[in-house]
Amino acid sequence: MLNIVLFGPPGAGKGTQSERLIEKYNLVHLSTGDIFRANIKGETELGKLAKSFMDQGKLVPDSVTIDMLRSEVLKQSTPNGFIFDGFPRTNAQAAALDEFLLTIDSSILLMLALEVEENELKTRLLKRAGVSGRADDADPVIIENRIRVYNNETAPVKDYYKQQGKFVSIDGIGTIDDITQRLFSVIDEKN
Ligand code: AP5
Ligand code: MG
Repeated sequence: MLNIVLFGPPGAGKGTQSERLIEKYNLVHLSTGDIFRANIKGETELGKLAKSFMDQGKLVPDSVTIDMLRSEVLKQSTPNGFIFDGFPRTNAQAAALDEFLLTIDSSILLMLALEVEENELKTRLLKRAGVSGRADDADPVIIENRIRVYNNETAPVKDYYKQQGKFVSIDGIGTIDDITQRLFSVIDEKN
């Protein structure tokens, strides 16, 4: 199985690039943010809980997020592999991911981390706010908070994968096509 963690701050291009990767390598795309937003739309209990955190740019608690992701992974019968987009966001999530991939005799091949500087992230998210309908894009204060939470709570997850020799940093500035090519070449070299 080809399992990739596509990592990066809010607005780095995780969702955009995931679309390209799933097509080329025939993978299942699991975006925790997208799954939470689908639950919010469907007005489920999980959605109500997640919304209270997401609207403030805070992380949804690990216990909830890990259980949800585990069930999404185990739902797939014979996948070629997964793109994990927006997960793991804490070291506890990273350890849980290793644990449940092990139960299906699998593991993460690579963490690909899209690196984009803060001003560019803010520009991208504010530009998207007009069309995304996302409450967490609409307010510059919430965007600031998402970036702060990323720096404080999520960026340290890079070290988890560095210790396993799986971390690769990718320049996330440039055209969408250029960045896709950078990702393809790293994956093709490892796969
Ligand atoms: P999530 O949905 O994961 O949002 P995010 O990480 O804040 O990131 P985005 O989805 O906004 O950005 P992206 O990197 O996907 O970039 P995109 O391709 O869209 O999480 C939302 C919330 O859910 C979290 O805050 C948290 O509350 C909760 N949550 C989710 N996962 C969780 C977890 N594991 N644990 C706990 N809580 C969790 O691109 C952004 C924009 O830029 C687009 O408009 C795009 O067109 C544009 N763009 C893309 N590439 C380029 C480029 N190369 N040049 C110029 N523009 C570009
Ligand atoms: Mg996204």
